[in-house]
Amino acid sequence: MPHDDTTLAGQVILVTGVTGGIGSATAHRLAEAGASLALAGRDATRVQRFAEQLNGPHLPLAFDVTDERAVSDAMDRAAAHFGRLDTLINVPGLSVPAKLVEMDVDDFDRTFDVNVKGMFLCSKHFIRQVDAQRGGLIVNISSVAGKAANPNAPAYCAAKAAMNMLANGLALQTREANVRISIISPGAVSTKGFWGDRPVPHEKFLKPGDVAEIIAGVLALPRHIVVHDVVFESWEFFKSK
Ligand SMILES: NC(=O)c1ccc[n+]([C@@H]2O[C@H](COP(=O)([O-])OP(=O)(O)OC[C@H]3O[C@@H](n4cnc5c(N)ncnc54)[C@H](OP(=O)(O)O)[C@@H]3O)[C@@H](O)[C@H]2O)c1
Repeated sequence: MPHDDTTLAGQVILVTGVTGGIGSATAHRLAEAGASLALAGRDATRVQRFAEQLNGPHLPLAFDVTDERAVSDAMDRAAAHFGRLDTLINVPGLSVPAKLVEMDVDDFDRTFDVNVKGMFLCSKHFIRQVDAQRGGLIVNISSVAGKAANPNAPAYCAAKAAMNMLANGLALQTREANVRISIISPGAVSTKGFWGDRPVPHEKFLKPGDVAEIIAGVLALPRHIVVHDVVFESWEFFKSK
C-alpha cells in the first residue's frame, strides 16, 4: 500500500469516539502526520482535555452520535471552523455480550443505535459539507464480527453486518458526490472501553495503534483508489485460535 503522510498533512478530518481506545490512537496518529482534526466525543470535558494534549489546530466537539440535531450542528460547526471537511472517521461502537433469549431490549437498541444509527447520522450530515470538486472520504470502523457470527454477542455481529451493508449502499449513492466510503474490519483490539472486565487474552490482541496505522494508510492513498473493506487481525491471536 503506498503510504505517504504528506497527503494526510493537508486533510481536515473529523474523528468520532476520541475518548475511546481506537479513536484516541487514530487522532494521535493523524495529528502526528499534520492533519487538522475535529475531535468528537460525548463528554465535553474529556474531549477538551484530549484536544489540549494533542496541542495543534484541532477543534473539540461534544455530541452524541445518536442525536440528529447535535450531529448536524457539530458538522456545521466543524465545517465553518476549518472552511471545509475532507474526511469522516466513524468510530463509536459497543457490544453487549448476551444470550439473545436473555438480552434486555434496551441493550439491543443501544447496540444498533450507536453502531448503526450513529454511523448513518454522522455520514448523512458530513456528506452535505463535502466539496464535490475536492471529494471526500468516510472511513467506518466495523469488525470481523460483521463477517462471521460468534456466540458471545450476536446482536453486535448483526449491527456490524448492518453497518457494512449501509456503507456498501451509501458507497453506490455517493459516487456522484465524489465521496468514497471505506470499511475497516479489525479483529479483537485491546481496549478497556470495549472489553471492560471480560477475561480475554489482551496480550494477543491488536493494539489500538495498529488500527490507527491501517486507517492512516487508507487516508494516505491517492484519490483515484477506493478501498472498500480492510479485514485484518493479530497474527498471534489468529495462530492461537
Ligand atoms: N476493541 C475491539 O476489540 C474492537 C474490534 C473490532 C472493532 N471494534 C470497533 O471499534 C470501534 C471503537 O472501539 P474501541 O475498542 O475503541 O471502544 P471504546 O474504547 O469503548 O471506545 C468507544 C468510543 O465510542 C464512544 N461512544 C459510545 N457511544 C457513543 C455515543 N452515543 N455518541 C458518541 N460517542 C459514543 C465512546 O465514548 P465514551 O468514552 O463517552 O463512552 C468512546 O469514545 C467500535 O466501533 C468497535 O465496535 C472494536
